This record gives sequence, C-alpha cells and structure tokens, in this order.
Amino acid sequence: MLEIHDLVLGYGAAAAVRGISLHIEQGEVVTLIGANGAGKSTTLKGIVGLVKPTKGAVVFEGTDVVGKNTDWLARNGLNLVPEGRRVFPGLTVAENLDVASVASSMRGAELKAAIADIYNIFPRLGERKDSLSWTLSGGEQQMLAMGRAIIAKPRLLLLDEPSLGLSPKLATEVVRLISRYSRENGLSVLLVEQNARLALGSSDRGYVLETGRIVAEGVAGELMDNPDVRKAYLGS
Ligand SMILES: Nc1ncnc2c1ncn2[C@@H]1O[C@H](COP(=O)(O)OP(=O)(O)OP(=O)(O)O)[C@@H](O)[C@H]1O
Ligand SMILES: [Mg+2]
Repeated sequence: MLEIHDLVLGYGAAAAVRGISLHIEQGEVVTLIGANGAGKSTTLKGIVGLVKPTKGAVVFEGTDVVGKNTDWLARNGLNLVPEGRRVFPGLTVAENLDVASVASSMRGAELKAAIADIYNIFPRLGERKDSLSWTLSGGEQQMLAMGRAIIAKPRLLLLDEPSLGLSPKLATEVVRLISRYSRENGLSVLLVEQNARLALGSSDRGYVLETGRIVAEGVAGELMDNPDVRKAYLGS
C-alpha cells in the first residue's frame, strides 16, 4: 500500500536520505531502526511532503504522492504523528479530539462514535477527557497525539518515536496498543523507534537505516537474530 523507490532528500547540499527503497503492505507494522541522525525522521517527513525529495518516488495506494502536501495526505488516509507530542496544551482532551476531527468529514453521530472509539483504545484519555492537555502525563499526551491522528481513520500511520520520554512500562504499553490497533483495524504503520527491541517485538518487519541508507531488512524475528543488528541496536 506504500512503496518508496530510491528516495533521496535532505536539507541543502548533503542528502540525509541517500536512495532508500521500502514497502509496507496493508495491515503491516513496519519498524525503521537507526542511530541518532541516521535519517529516520527525514524519511517520514519525505513521505508526507514536509521535506521535498530531490529524487525518487513515494507511491501510496497506487498514486505517486510526491508533491502532495501534508494536509492532502491526511485527508486521503496517510497521517504522521511527528517527533515530540503535538497537542494543544490549553484545550481539554475532548477539545483536542474535536479539533482533530474538524479536518475530517465526520459530523454528528459518526463523530461521536469515532471519539468513543478513541476512549476505548485509550481508556485513560476517557477518564481525563475534561482535563486541560498540559496537565496530562507524557504518556497520556502521546496517547492523545495518536488519538488525534487516528480519529479520521487513516489507512497508513507514520509514528516518529511514540515512546520518546516515556517510562519503559508506558513505552511498552504505547507500542503494544499501536500494534493491537493495527491488527484489529487493518491499519498499516511505519514506526520509528529508538528502542529497537521493543519496536521489533511488536512489528511484522523492519528496516535498518545507517547514514541515510538501508543496510538490513527482514521480518522482525530475523532482524532480532541478525548478529550485526544485535550488536548495534539490541545491546547484545
Ligand atoms: N532541519 C534540518 N536542517 C538541516 N539538517 C537537518 C535538519 N533536520 C535534520 N537534519 C540532519 O539530517 C540528518 C538526519 O536527521 P534525522 O532527523 O532524519 O535523523 P533521525 O534518524 O530521525 O535521528 P534521531 O533518532 O536523533 O531522531 C542529521 O544529520 C541531521 O542533523
Ligand atoms: Mg528523528
């Protein structure tokens, strides 16, 4: 459902992403692993048009989407949750979800059901729906950011370090929730995670990015058994 061919992009003279190709099938959770500065976030930004590729193709459900802007992609089923939680701190949890839903065509009963769905997936958000978002814990804010992204029912979700700043326990919970939601709803996910062990443990496949190039790929279990990957990213 997503294919990237020989994508090159960056910021100025030096390319941060130097010709990568990858694919994601419908309902798959795919992890992108790499050290700081490897080009993971840049890859995600390239997919949603926040950084303009200088070369290559991004094909989403059969359409080349290079040149489409982020809003167009969000309205058409492809959503990014960027690094760092993006919620409106001065609005309540419920208001944050309302605002996010405005961008979709949902109204009335359909919208109510969609919001109830979010509270089902993240019960903690339901409990705190009338709280101002800045009073939420880091994990709760991350859940709200994801809730905002999935309320419009995207078909592909790009998640940039959803566990950043969370305790190991919450990080595990957030990544497992994503994987379960994907299984139950057929949502495809491209997940960027520093914690490779956690991410691969909840993914179908993975790619390893080193200085803008893919150096290894495979099903999650195989990557976890790969000695180079173990040494560099799994600490063993
Ligand atoms: N806005 C920018 N302007 C110039 N260079 C940038 C910009 N953003 C990122 N870079 C550079 O591009 C390279 C890739 O950065 P990127 O953010 O994609 O890394 P990353 O894999 O997401 O790292 P991290 O794990 O630290 O988030 C790095 O060398 C970084 O310094
Ligand atoms: Mg990053």
